[in-house]
Amino acid sequence: MSAIYELDNVRQVYAGRTVLDVESLRIGERRIVGVAGPNGSGKSTLMRILAFLERPERGTIRFAGQVCAENGNGVRRKVTLLTQEPYLLKRSVEGNVAYGLAVRGEPHDAERVGRALDMVGLAPEKFLRRSWRELSGGEAQRVALAARLVLRPRVLLLDEPTASLDEESAKRIMGAAQAARDDWGATIVVVSHDRDWLGEVADETIRMREGRIVS
Ligand SMILES: Nc1ncnc2c1ncn2[C@@H]1O[C@H](COP(=O)(O)OP(=O)(O)OP(=O)(O)O)[C@@H](O)[C@H]1O
Ligand SMILES: [Mg+2]
Repeated sequence: MSAIYELDNVRQVYAGRTVLDVESLRIGERRIVGVAGPNGSGKSTLMRILAFLERPERGTIRFAGQVCAENGNGVRRKVTLLTQEPYLLKRSVEGNVAYGLAVRGEPHDAERVGRALDMVGLAPEKFLRRSWRELSGGEAQRVALAARLVLRPRVLLLDEPTASLDEESAKRIMGAAQAARDDWGATIVVVSHDRDWLGEVADETIRMREGRIVS
């Protein structure tokens, strides 16, 4: 199994305090990897580092076999992070999902937008024209996920994507993650406090405590 991420001696320090200290972490391509651990154990810090949104104070990160220098050598485009509070633009569902395509200079593609909504279980004919204002929290989270899926990221990082969702929405998010892996071989790393949900969706789960991976 080839690794998409290889982290060695990665440490992050905030205000003089070590909040992340990962001796070695390998994440295999096309895996769905769960991350569990108590509040403050460094899960979100690890996710931001995997997303190349922040640089660790020390250590090396290889992505698909290549050492990543500052800003991840353009690999940031291959990786997308979805956090607990979905951020939507003040426009329609369609406008939100299509936005990423426009930013990347790709043509509008109604089929891809519809497919992304299907993946998260939101019927396009019902949701495409809806305004961002007319969505429940769970629907908004799923639209935010669709806006990432439309770009077919090589890595999908989900930081507590189901924290405030009902069972139905949580199931849909799980289904979308699995479809991303099956359709284009995405690797998924997902933080969750829901053990049952993680147990169902993840191939393996790493546990963190006080910045370290403990199992
Ligand atoms: N910007 C920051 N400045 C200083 N300390 C920070 C900062 N961000 C996070 N921390 C600290 O880093 C540690 C790890 O935080 P992190 O958010 O990664 O934990 P977490 O496992 O995601 O927790 P939770 O389950 O609550 O989301 C915590 O002790 C936190 O207080
Ligand atoms: Mg967190």
